[in-house]
Amino acid sequence: MNTRQELVHQYLDEALKYYSKAELANRLGSDQGTIRRWAARETEPKPYVVDSLKQLLLPFGPQEKRETEFRFIDLFAGIGGIRKAFERVGGECVFTSEWDTYAQKTYAANFRHDSHALNGDITQVNAFDIPDHDVLLAGFPCQPFSIAGVSKKNALGRAHGFEDETQGTLFFDVARILQVKRPRAFLLENVKNLMSHDKGRTFDVIRRTLSEELGYHIHCKIIDAQHFVPQHRERIVIVGFREPTDFNWDLLALPPKGNTTIKDILHKTDGTEPWNEHDGNKYFDHETGQVNPKYTLTPKLWQYLQNYAVKHREKGNGFGFGLVGPNSIARTLSARYYKDGSEVLVDQGVGKNPRRLTPRECARLMGLDDSFVIPVSDTRAYKQFGNSVVMPVFHAVAEIMKPRIVAEQFEPVIKDMWESNGSGVDLLESPSPYQTHRKESVS
Ligand SMILES: C[S@@+](CC[C@H](N)C(=O)[O-])C[C@H]1O[C@@H](n2cnc3c(N)ncnc32)[C@H](O)[C@@H]1O
Repeated sequence: MNTRQELVHQYLDEALKYYSKAELANRLGSDQGTIRRWAARETEPKPYVVDSLKQLLLPFGPQEKRETEFRFIDLFAGIGGIRKAFERVGGECVFTSEWDTYAQKTYAANFRHDSHALNGDITQVNAFDIPDHDVLLAGFPCQPFSIAGVSKKNALGRAHGFEDETQGTLFFDVARILQVKRPRAFLLENVKNLMSHDKGRTFDVIRRTLSEELGYHIHCKIIDAQHFVPQHRERIVIVGFREPTDFNWDLLALPPKGNTTIKDILHKTDGTEPWNEHDGNKYFDHETGQVNPKYTLTPKLWQYLQNYAVKHREKGNGFGFGLVGPNSIARTLSARYYKDGSEVLVDQGVGKNPRRLTPRECARLMGLDDSFVIPVSDTRAYKQFGNSVVMPVFHAVAEIMKPRIVAEQFEPVIKDMWESNGSGVDLLESPSPYQTHRKESVS
């Protein structure tokens, strides 16, 4: 029996403590005989049954309870994608900030056993009121820093700090919390364009603030989620440690790209789509075995998208729509997917208009398993998934950060902090003054 099958049995045994075989059969869209055969190990449930069982066990408390090994805070939390990754490696979330009420709703539905309240606008939170923690997590929105004040101060020969350079931006809030709380480590996430944003100035201020002013040892890498899910989604990940460690990106195990393709996240029309207690028949009609027809584009919208693509191709710009088949990799899911779904349209064959992904398929595309509860409208859900992170990417990063977070003693620095990205190109082309500073600070 493989690990996945063992897991299904563990969940099944647990579920049978709370549900009769008849109830379980009803809720899983199966029959009592099948449940009895699974329980007696005469036949094997399909591995995906584990997701439905997890759903059923939710009211009875977390089943994957682990010892808490470190504490973290979740800033700009969205729907908690980064949080899930760090919980999975043994972290406990002790503070959350997310101001969007719809994202809060999704977050609350998925982290129901929290001991802390959900905080809103981070700019209104006094850093001294935030509980002590080992790791700060933040997927902060990217904003330009005003350079007017800085240039003037430079001209006057006056020193300036991040307070001057970043005031009024959300990165400022990250920096001021790091300054007051001094966690052992942080992870910041952003769009790849952060590197080139405002001609590189934005990234330079961030880098200088984190390393030179706050004294963290930082590591930075662009990671494409395609290593984990069938979606091309490049994000910059900035990891920082308060003390020198042996962290380096060679530790990151990235599965080969293309391991999974779109068919792995689509609803199954061959009768194997698992029943999902929360979704019911909202996205996938289990009676007909088909995706709800409302996700198929209307003839008018499909015609519009085709015309639009032709027009832009003639002008030599724009990608138009992105049609995906079973073996495709999707383009980056954006927060505007709800508008027309044009970046990822599922080909439904000749004579049928393509369809959008359902919110459940979007969740899967972000690496979230089917126990993830979607309590909001489709429009809100599309926006939230488009803004979120691909969870397994951050799980992989969390795994290599964790030993350096929980270690009693930090290892000495053995590698340069600025390392190459996946394509072997240095993220910083020229040595930065920070490197000198870092070496000095280490010695
Ligand atoms: C890119 S998303 C982060 C997504 C998140 N990392 C996840 O995995 O779902 C940025 C989030 O920051 C939130 N946000 C923006 N300004 C904020 C503020 N001042 N205080 C709290 N949250 C804020 C937005 O509502 C949005 O959900």
